[in-house]
Amino acid sequence: MSDHELRVNKIRNGTVIDHITAGQALNVLAILGVDAHSGETLSVAMNVPSDRLGTKDIVKVEGRELSQDEVDVLSLIAGAATINIVREFDVVEKHRVERPREVVGVLSCPNRHCITTADEPVDSRFDVLEDGIRCCYCDTIVRDGIADHIAVG
Ligand code: CTP
Ligand code: ZN
Repeated sequence: MSDHELRVNKIRNGTVIDHITAGQALNVLAILGVDAHSGETLSVAMNVPSDRLGTKDIVKVEGRELSQDEVDVLSLIAGAATINIVREFDVVEKHRVERPREVVGVLSCPNRHCITTADEPVDSRFDVLEDGIRCCYCDTIVRDGIADHIAVG
């Protein structure tokens, strides 16, 4: 995309999550824990034309990088995403997300009797399967709608 077509501003420092599966941008915001009260500056572009994907979403977060746990869950809903680290307007790092063997935190187990959903301070932990995720504590499997299990708050 040439500069005169730029849809959202370049950022000075932060992270650009590019090549997000179209329709997943709001779920990406949920993974990042961004809402009206988080005070973070970010830009979202949805349904942007893309050579590689047809259309894609883009999320730009200013002033911070993502944790590995956030990137791991992101890979489950946007497997073609690229993470670009920007410093002083330059992309200094770029990598594709990789599907991890397990994801820790960020998602919550749908089983309300699971130890991770009780008042215990136990982080959620799921094994990543080919077609879903499985809670390491209670073996509950989530196949569809993983984004519906992004923990709030
Ligand atoms: N970007 C940004 N602010 C910057 C630098 C880059 O918002 N200061 C954005 C670009 O708009 C683009 C993404 O970060 O969406 C990646 O930038 P770049 O690597 O320059 O673009 P491409 O080469 O097109 O990336 P790719 O090859 O991964 O498609
Ligand atoms: Zn569980």
